[in-house]
Amino acid sequence: MVDIRQSWEKIARFYNRTYTIKTNTVHYGPLCPGDDKLGLLGNISVRKVIDLGCGAGQNCIALTRLGAAVTGVDYSSNQLDAARELASRAKAVIDFIESDITNLAVLKTDAYDIAISACAMAFVRDIEAAFAEAYRILKPGGKFILSIMHPVQYILDGEKNRVSFNSTYPFKRRLIRWHWDFAEESIKFQYYLRSLSEYHNRLVDAGFVVIRVLEPKPTLKTPHIGFSREIMNEYPYIARHLPITLIFVALKPAISQIKG
Ligand SMILES: C[S@@+](CC[C@H](N)C(=O)[O-])C[C@H]1O[C@@H](n2cnc3c(N)ncnc32)[C@H](O)[C@@H]1O
Repeated sequence: MVDIRQSWEKIARFYNRTYTIKTNTVHYGPLCPGDDKLGLLGNISVRKVIDLGCGAGQNCIALTRLGAAVTGVDYSSNQLDAARELASRAKAVIDFIESDITNLAVLKTDAYDIAISACAMAFVRDIEAAFAEAYRILKPGGKFILSIMHPVQYILDGEKNRVSFNSTYPFKRRLIRWHWDFAEESIKFQYYLRSLSEYHNRLVDAGFVVIRVLEPKPTLKTPHIGFSREIMNEYPYIARHLPITLIFVALKPAISQIKG
């Protein structure tokens, strides 16, 4: 079994050096339009927003620029060091917390207006616990925006003008292991491949009402620059024709709605 937290500790500096992400708007993933185009956050001025699996904090900085009071959570201290450095250079005041997002006991219940989580949940084994915690810390009526890599792309190998199947759709959760290769090091990694319905239904099981599912058309006009270019170069057919990022927008019902 790969210790995925340790993998993130090892990869942090190579990853952040390789995959540039802009901080002028909130990003949801590679080849995906930013929130300036998708408009999922709404007006978040003076809102309390938390970023679950915040990595190097680019979304946290973008959120502060929109006037939100921002907390970023990640369990990799090296990712958080990168986030603190980036935030300090951007003169952004952000509360960074080192914690596993499946256990946020350090955080109060009903505390946040919005929770976002971009490209982190595939690394989490127990998404039931992560969704239960996201639900708990949100205020009634609060919004959870979750993005992951779209599962459809993993069943295909892309060539220039065609695709070929290399695997079955993850009808059941599947563990994928690989080595993430950088010039200096090759680091063991793993993530869980899950179907769209699996994510949707676990959100519903946690108590959320899913109000939108988005499969944006891939675009190089994305804040997630570095990784997008890599996917476009390696899998041009997939990157042009298939959704790369999948987004759920879900609400924690307000008390009146729960009581009907
Ligand atoms: C691909 S990066 C995405 C970072 C950031 N959200 C972004 O979009 O740039 C995934 C991040 O999730 C974090 N992560 C994965 N599983 C986690 C967990 N169970 N608890 C806290 N952080 C986690 C990793 O440490 C890593 O920083």
